[in-house]
Amino acid sequence: MKILVTGGLGFIGSHTVVELQNKGFEVLIVDNLSNADEKVLEGITAITGKTPIFEKFDLREKAKVQDFFGRHSDLTGVIHFAASKAVGESVEKPLLYYENNLGVLTYILQELIKKDEAHFIFSSSCTVYGQADNMPITEDAPVKPAESPYGNTKQVGEEIICDTCKVNSNLAAISLRYFNPIGAHPSTAIGELPIGVPQNLVPFITQTGIGMREQLSVFGDDYPTPDGTCVRDYIHVVDLAKAHVKALQRLIQNENQSNYEVFNLGTGTGSSVFEVIQSFERVSGKKLNYKIVDRRLGDVTEAYADTTKANTILGWKANSTLDDAMKSAWDWEQKIRKPRS
Ligand code: WQD
Repeated sequence: MKILVTGGLGFIGSHTVVELQNKGFEVLIVDNLSNADEKVLEGITAITGKTPIFEKFDLREKAKVQDFFGRHSDLTGVIHFAASKAVGESVEKPLLYYENNLGVLTYILQELIKKDEAHFIFSSSCTVYGQADNMPITEDAPVKPAESPYGNTKQVGEEIICDTCKVNSNLAAISLRYFNPIGAHPSTAIGELPIGVPQNLVPFITQTGIGMREQLSVFGDDYPTPDGTCVRDYIHVVDLAKAHVKALQRLIQNENQSNYEVFNLGTGTGSSVFEVIQSFERVSGKKLNYKIVDRRLGDVTEAYADTTKANTILGWKANSTLDDAMKSAWDWEQKIRKPRS
């Protein structure tokens, strides 16, 4: 079965392509390479022995989206990763985020509702919860006013899909709310390739460990948490990728209870920034150079998933520990920074 993976050369997209191929799906990737490198195709092929079909174009060009779906009329499944995802940038450039994250979503859905049957998996985020009142966070926790245009595009994106599914019974969709994806494929053939200074914790840690960055700044140690630093649910990107295949198979096999469902994807365990640093030091055997600085605007104190629904209904559970994920991130960092022989 042919599956379109938009943004399939990106961090989570590429790992999902590998797992789709492992399950026998034929994968088409559309990516505009704005936040990905075409060399990732070689990494995917190195792991699975199969090279996905890749088309480079910008999904904001509606005519190209229509042309693509016209040329691939037998395509019935889409996993949609292509979106802008930098929280800070979204505050500076809201229209870029609304066009790229929502305009594109409507173009893809407009093509899917023309089909007799279509399956759609949406890359959402725990950011929709803001600072949830209760931990762990369940899927029926209230969606709070977004703290950034990026977060708003995930909230509104889910509403667009839900409203579309209500009046198109031929379309079935699942939104997957990721907690904090980290790590890399154990083969080190693919991994995270942040452009410029990493915004996220784990790539900043591994780049500090490898000597690319002088020192990690810990954004505050005065939060109301056990050790004063923020708590998050760090999930191995391979576990996350496998959840996407499970969600797609759920729709293909008509196991879904309604034609729009939502699942949290996390480990169910919260880890503080200091615990993540300690994990890095354990797996690398290196002492991490860091300092405590002021809190970062927009950070929530804690966010970790209640995974009951994903475990019992989706039939998926994260297997990797924080150390497993951190080791894969560190192995990947060492691999990509090794001087070319
Ligand atoms: C984690 C913790 C920081 C960097 C964001 C988006 C979310 C999703 C994942 C796209 C926080 C602390 C970080 C650093 C630090 N993105 N930190 N020093 O903010 O939980 O989630 O990325 O889907 O939508 O909001 O992840 O890795 O940036 O931060 O102390 O240099 O690490 O304060 O407590 P976050 P993060």
